[in-house]
Amino acid sequence: MSVQIDHLLHESRRFPPSPEFAAASVATESLYEQAAEDRLGFWANQARELLHWHKPFTRTLDWTNPPFAKWFDDGELNVAYNCLDRHVLAGDGDRIALHWEGEPGDSRSISYAQLTSEVKRAANVLIGLGVQAGDRVAIYLPMIPEAVVAMLAVARIGAVHSVIFGGFSAESLRSRIDDAEAVVVITADGGYRKGRVTPLKPAVDAALASGDSSVRTVLVVERTGGDVEWNERDKWWHEELAAVSDEHEAQAFPAENPLFILYTSGTTGKPKGILHTSGGYLTQAAFTHKQVFDLKPEKDVYWCTADVGWITGHTYVVYGPLANGATQVLYEGTPDTPHPGRWWEIIEKYKVSILYTAPTAIRTFMKIGRQEPQKFDLTSLRLLGSVGEPINPEAWMWYREVIGNHVTPVVDTWWQTETGAIMVSALPGLTVVKPGAAQVAIPGISIDVLGEDGHHVGHGNGGLLVVTEPWPSMLRGIWGDPDRFIETYWEKWPDAPNGPLYFAGDGARLDREGDIWLLGRVDDVMNVSGHRLSTAEIESSLVAHPAVAEAAVVGAHDETTGQAVVAFVIIKFSQTDAVSHADISAVLRAHVTLQIGAIARPREIFIVSELPKTRSGKIMRRLLRDVAEGREIGDTTTLADTSIMQIITDGMR
Ligand code: WT7
Repeated sequence: MSVQIDHLLHESRRFPPSPEFAAASVATESLYEQAAEDRLGFWANQARELLHWHKPFTRTLDWTNPPFAKWFDDGELNVAYNCLDRHVLAGDGDRIALHWEGEPGDSRSISYAQLTSEVKRAANVLIGLGVQAGDRVAIYLPMIPEAVVAMLAVARIGAVHSVIFGGFSAESLRSRIDDAEAVVVITADGGYRKGRVTPLKPAVDAALASGDSSVRTVLVVERTGGDVEWNERDKWWHEELAAVSDEHEAQAFPAENPLFILYTSGTTGKPKGILHTSGGYLTQAAFTHKQVFDLKPEKDVYWCTADVGWITGHTYVVYGPLANGATQVLYEGTPDTPHPGRWWEIIEKYKVSILYTAPTAIRTFMKIGRQEPQKFDLTSLRLLGSVGEPINPEAWMWYREVIGNHVTPVVDTWWQTETGAIMVSALPGLTVVKPGAAQVAIPGISIDVLGEDGHHVGHGNGGLLVVTEPWPSMLRGIWGDPDRFIETYWEKWPDAPNGPLYFAGDGARLDREGDIWLLGRVDDVMNVSGHRLSTAEIESSLVAHPAVAEAAVVGAHDETTGQAVVAFVIIKFSQTDAVSHADISAVLRAHVTLQIGAIARPREIFIVSELPKTRSGKIMRRLLRDVAEGREIGDTTTLADTSIMQIITDGMR
């Protein structure tokens, strides 16, 4: 059935950690050994070591009613206390928690003591507004410190936040508010992006304009000073915070108390409200943040570039780093404002030592060229992370060489909104890393790659990525829809002999050494003449060509072969005039044929100026498939820029 189309597996470069890095590594081999010996005991130890429990737990995992897991469920803790108060009590109140950099160049450095007192005030405000444990609060803010304060204040009082990314429309905001029945919305007048003020409050007003809603109060942070319409339910954040005390004692809540809902797109049109709870989530967030990023909180300056509107911002901007007492950078704006070296300037300014970002950003910087980062001193960097999609070996190498000065380890981390925290990743002081591979399950996590028949595929083969045992930060459900939770993730192999398996929706391959290579969503895996082809694999090949800046590949219906490969390609600026589009297509088809084989040769290559992406930077292949198959273009509500599809279709006519 499937053929080996594995140019990725011919990737033979290997990078062991330097002796200095290995010698100072936070992670030790014993983590793997302990986890293998007693998985639940291992997680119980991590939970005890990494967190403060107001009431210690005695039960680690309750899996009597799968797939509904309970972790540490007779224990009690306060998530915000773990991220704030205990660091202050331990004498680290003066340590900087957030180096915040606004896009226009304003900045604030906020210590743990200051952040704690801000969160206590905000918690008192929410209590004053009648918010109770279990109530939902919607947060619709730019990347400003108040976003972190708001999330932690909600957590502190045992309520549940639903952060909605600032780029979502009023309609998406309303549907999320309604689904969770939020009682308060926390927003801002606006934020700064691409050198301009982007208003936010009008979207909240529009969202709440029609019909009755569950929202009683809208708290408005003043960020830009722009004009805002004012309604009876609106209150200024700064006025409310100034009017309350900064004394607030954190109460303990059960470990399974809901912490947040985060909406993510599924295969249907309706976004899923992914539900996460407290003790297990925080344990795995803190554990992975410490071990995968080799965190030394006393001296590292960490920067995760994700927006708090996405899961990466929840786990690796807010909860993981703050639980670990890290110092981090928070940046409001876009990477190229006011100049294309803005990120590198920030790294130089704060001496960032750990950078965590997405392949799409790295490829964009590759397109701009190495002259920009080379204008800045990046020698403070000692570790680089990648997340969000498979990172092609070329981007991985560029990241290591240009940003990491040829020596900085790169870790590729696989996980999902649903998994809550990193599941597959190298540990940088231990693992010999391979460009393009996420490689190994982290200690305490059980991953397998199965064929459609539910059997382990064996080294050298591809299949479907599954998680075979429950994990602490796993989603506890889809808000209000337990059936969809079961159907979406747990029913691919209902009769699996060792209990239910979590199907991640990703294809993966095990190399000859058993390391994991992610191949993209399985809905993006094509079947051409009965042969399995990965979109990621062909994209990787295309972007390896010097003329190509970005590429997206879809499987389009084909009379003869079932599916056919259709590629959408952005050509580098410097190459656009050199040859005609027809020539470039021919060159690239030959290139893919040469790199992977004739089977992978795209039937068509469209040269485009933009690719449709979600706001988290994922290419929306579904829309490209519509274009490639000549259909009406489907739902574009999660597109970052809805004009892009017009550009693409116009360009093709
Ligand atoms: C999907 C989850 C996890 C935070 C950001 C995205 C893809 C994520 C990797 C990686 C290959 C990756 C998968 C996954 N993905 N990280 N390192 N290598 N693919 O969260 O929006 O929930 O998306 O992103 O396809 O299923 P998300």
